[in-house]
Amino acid sequence: MIIEHDPNKVREQVKAWKKEGLTVGLVPTMGYLHEGHKSLIDRAVKENDRVVVSIFVNPIQFGPTEDLDKYPRDLNADSKLCEESGVSLVFNPQPSDMYADDFSTYIKESGPTEELCGKSRPVHFSGVCTVVNKLFNIALPDRAYFGQKDAQQLAVVRRMVRDLSMDIKIVGCPIVREPDGLAKSSRNIYLSPEERKAALVLSRAVKKGQELVDAGETDGDKIIDQMKALIEAEPLAKIDYVEMVSWDDIKVHHKVDGPILCAMAVFIGNTRLIDNFIRE
Ligand code: PAF
Repeated sequence: MIIEHDPNKVREQVKAWKKEGLTVGLVPTMGYLHEGHKSLIDRAVKENDRVVVSIFVNPIQFGPTEDLDKYPRDLNADSKLCEESGVSLVFNPQPSDMYADDFSTYIKESGPTEELCGKSRPVHFSGVCTVVNKLFNIALPDRAYFGQKDAQQLAVVRRMVRDLSMDIKIVGCPIVREPDGLAKSSRNIYLSPEERKAALVLSRAVKKGQELVDAGETDGDKIIDQMKALIEAEPLAKIDYVEMVSWDDIKVHHKVDGPILCAMAVFIGNTRLIDNFIRE
């Protein structure tokens, strides 16, 4: 397995593979890999001749008061997981490899980015779209893999690929959970034992919402109110948002009469966690 920080060398390697007629899958990550990432990597390894995993904590998708500096990093463990999973190349650039001092070109999507996390994290999706674009231009993938835990991100990337006529298939993969239901996230490491217990309100609220939809409830406001009530009963939890939107154009929607996404962001102490379910 190759570990490379230089974007030009990565592109040269991928071009050499493509010359041989090999297909390339890309799994973009910020590292500190867990079983959620592993499920994306496994699928990419199954569906492509070569797999590139990018590990890059992208500074431009963090707001000034967010957790860029303390975001967990462990390149040794990540490389081991990648090697054991059959990854061909780990792309691990430094910020200076990706952004020149006078970098000044950003992608701004203005549809699915407007709701949910887009409201509370104003620079986030422009940073994501810009870096994903760069990663696509460096790794030249046939397919790229994104987790459904970041459902809005998946919708935004799909929209960008469609709007900018990129010849890349975006593959969305299901949420991977801990045995007790908590969605796997690199940020779970921030939780104290007490907060870890409290964090279960997110998956319990997801389950509640799913049960209501399964039982035939179509009133979005009723569904969201019950999910919120469950979260509000937990003293360590503070809701950023719990909302129903249409899937996958992420427009405010109040009725289960087509594909919908119920998504939430909740602070447990200082840690902001997200979770969701989709009904197609
Ligand atoms: O989902 C993530 O980890 C990041 O947003 C991504 C897609 C790797 C871009 O930095």
